[in-house]
Formats: sequence, C-alpha cells, structure tokens
Amino acid sequence: MTQLYDLHMSDQSLASEHLHTSRLSLQRPTEADIDAILAIHRDPEACLHNPSDALTGLDEAGELYRRWNDQWQQCGYGYWVVRRHGSALQLGFCGIKPMELQGMKVLNLFYRFAPSAWGQGFASEAATTVAAWALRHVPGLPLIARVRPDNIASQRVAVRAGLTRAEHLDGAGYDGFDWIYAAGLPR
Ligand SMILES: CC(C)(COP(=O)(O)OP(=O)(O)OC[C@H]1O[C@@H](n2cnc3c(N)ncnc32)[C@H](O)[C@@H]1OP(=O)(O)O)[C@@H](O)C(=O)NCCC(=O)NCCS
Repeated sequence: MTQLYDLHMSDQSLASEHLHTSRLSLQRPTEADIDAILAIHRDPEACLHNPSDALTGLDEAGELYRRWNDQWQQCGYGYWVVRRHGSALQLGFCGIKPMELQGMKVLNLFYRFAPSAWGQGFASEAATTVAAWALRHVPGLPLIARVRPDNIASQRVAVRAGLTRAEHLDGAGYDGFDWIYAAGLPR
C-alpha cells in the first residue's frame, strides 16, 4: 500500500510532507510519533477545552495515527508533527482536515501543542504556515477553526494565522458551542 501510495503521489503532495518555518520543521507523522500523540492528547491541560479529543491509551493513539495517515493517503495533506529544527522532540501537531460545516465543505485547521511548549509562539508560527499552505494548495475549500469561546490562546492563534471571526457560522460542536474563525469563505 505504501508503495502504491508513493507511486501515485504528485511531486507537489510529496513536497507537502515537509514544511519549514524559521524555527520549526513540520513533517507528516510516522508510527514513531504515536507515543507523542498519546502524551499530548492525554494531558488534561492540552484537552481542557476539547475533552472529546482526550486519549487514554496507546491503542487509541495508534487508531488516531491511522486515521491521520489514511487522510494523508487520500488527500496528500493532513496533520503535521511540529519540531524545532534539528530536534527530535515533538512540540505538537498542526494541520488541516476536510469536513462539512453547516452543509459547506471546508478545511478545519487544527493545532495542539504540549503545555511545556506553550507561550513561545510555536503554535502561531506553525498555524500561519499551514494556513498559507492550505489557501494556496487547496484553494477551493474555505479554511475554518472551531474554537471554544473561553479558549483565548486558540483564538489568538487563529487570528495570527489569518482567520477572522465568522459569527454567522457559530454553532454546536463536540464539546459545546464553538466560535468559528475563517479565511477564504465564498463572497
Ligand atoms: C492553543 C495553543 C495551540 C496555543 O499554543 P502556543 O504555542 O502557546 O501559542 P502561541 O505562543 O503562538 O501564542 C498565541 C497567542 O495566544 C496567547 N496566549 C497563549 N496562552 C494564553 C493563555 N493561556 N491565555 C491567554 N492568551 C494566551 C499568546 O500571548 C499569543 O498572543 P498574541 O498573538 O497576542 O501574541 C495551545 O494553548 C494548546 O495546545 N492548547 C490546547 C489545545 C487547543 O486548545 N487547541 C485548539 C483547539 S480549537
């Protein structure tokens, strides 16, 4: 399957597997990142605003990795694992996923970082690069972020990534009422 996938990936999709920012390296996750997926998603602070995303065991983390990997195979993009250049330590994850919001096909912008990495601008730096990549390479789909109203840090990251409030799209989410931030909405 991997070989088939490699044969059918376009050069552009292969290029998408590794993005750079000034401080960060964003790479398509591998099975070696499953431990970090678990560590970050079982941290109560990292899932405080989105408890439905919390994981409790390695099986769940492996299952989540496989869903992420399936999306990479189908779309040629997905969630990236974020590290500092030259470091093996996973700081967090940031990426895009196709979904429907109120009957409209959109790309959802996701970011979740280890609390030890917060407050250094890493999420903003990664999300800005991912948002720019999405708007350039997947131009037909608006980019949205669904943010809980009391998640101020996430709102700031969405704005720094170039998204603006789209109150008309606000609505019920998995963990309560979500505020929607968006870029590239149809006029
Ligand atoms: C949201 C999250 C990714 C931000 O990560 P981060 O690396 O600390 O973000 P940055 O350092 O880039 O900071 C972004 C902004 O948020 C602000 N911020 C960070 N933590 C904050 C907090 N606890 N309260 C208020 N503002 C905060 C920063 O000052 C910065 O503001 P600025 O743009 O005005 O300078 C991180 O808090 C996280 O992983 N949270 C848990 C997962 C989550 O909620 N994901 C979003 C789901 S919608």
